[in-house]
Amino acid sequence: MIEFQNVAYNYGGGELLSEMTLTLAPGSFHFLTGPSGAGKTTFLKLCYGELLATAGRVNVFEADVKTLSRDEVARMRRRIGVVHQDCQFLDHLPLAENVALPLTVSGRAVTDTDVEDLLNWVGLKSLAGHRPPELSGGERQRAALARAIIMGPDVILADEPTGNVDWDMSQRLLQLLIELNRMGKTILIATHDLNLIRNAKAQVAARVLRIRNRRLHLAGSDL
Ligand SMILES: Nc1ncnc2c1ncn2[C@@H]1O[C@H](COP(=O)(O)OP(=O)(O)OP(=O)(O)O)[C@@H](O)[C@H]1O
Ligand SMILES: [Mg+2]
Repeated sequence: MIEFQNVAYNYGGGELLSEMTLTLAPGSFHFLTGPSGAGKTTFLKLCYGELLATAGRVNVFEADVKTLSRDEVARMRRRIGVVHQDCQFLDHLPLAENVALPLTVSGRAVTDTDVEDLLNWVGLKSLAGHRPPELSGGERQRAALARAIIMGPDVILADEPTGNVDWDMSQRLLQLLIELNRMGKTILIATHDLNLIRNAKAQVAARVLRIRNRRLHLAGSDL
C-alpha cells in the first residue's frame, strides 16, 4: 500500500532520515515513535506525497510518488486521510461544515446524514453547529479524525492524535482508530505516548516503528 525503498530525506541541513525501507501492508496497524524532532511528521509527509524523498523511492498504491501528475497526486491524497499534528480548522465555519470540507472542496455532494453519522460516531453530534474555537482539545482531535475519514480513505495517517488530551480521551480516540482498522483501513499513528502503544498492542496486532539515529527500526517487545 505504502512502500519505502531505501528512502532518505534532507531539508537542506544534512540528512534527517536515511536508508528507510518498509512496507505498510493493506489493513496493517503501525505506530511510529521517536524523540521530538526525530522526523515523525516528516515521515508521514513522505507517505502522502507532501514531501518527496531526496533519495530512494516511495510507492503509494503501487505508483512511484515522484512520477505522479498533479491530478494523480490529488487522487492519491483522497485515499489517504491525514490527522495533522496541529489540527487546524476554519474558525468561522461550524464544526459540521469543517468536517465536510474535504468533500465540498473535491466537488462531491455532501449529504447531511453522512456528516451527521460521522459526527455521531466520534461523539460530537450535539456540537455540529458549534465553531471550532468553542471545542475542547479532545473534541478538536475527534473532529480532526472525522474530517480525515469523511472521504472514505483506505489509509489513515494520524500525527499525535492524542496530544493534549487526557487518558480517557486518548483511549476513546484509540478505540475509534482500532475500529477503523477492523473495518479494513490501514493505520499509522505517530505518537510519543508509549502507554497508548502498550494499550493498543493488547487489542490489535500493531507493529511499532521507531526513528533512532536517522534510521527507522522495528521495535521489539521492549515496549
Ligand atoms: N520545513 C522544514 N524545513 C527545515 N527543517 C524542518 C522543516 N520541517 C521540519 N524540520 C526539521 O526536521 C526535524 C524533524 O521534524 P519533524 O517535525 O519531522 O519531527 P517530529 O519527530 O515530528 O517531532 P515532534 O515529535 O516534535 O512532532 C526537526 O529538526 C525540524 O526542525
Ligand atoms: Mg511531529
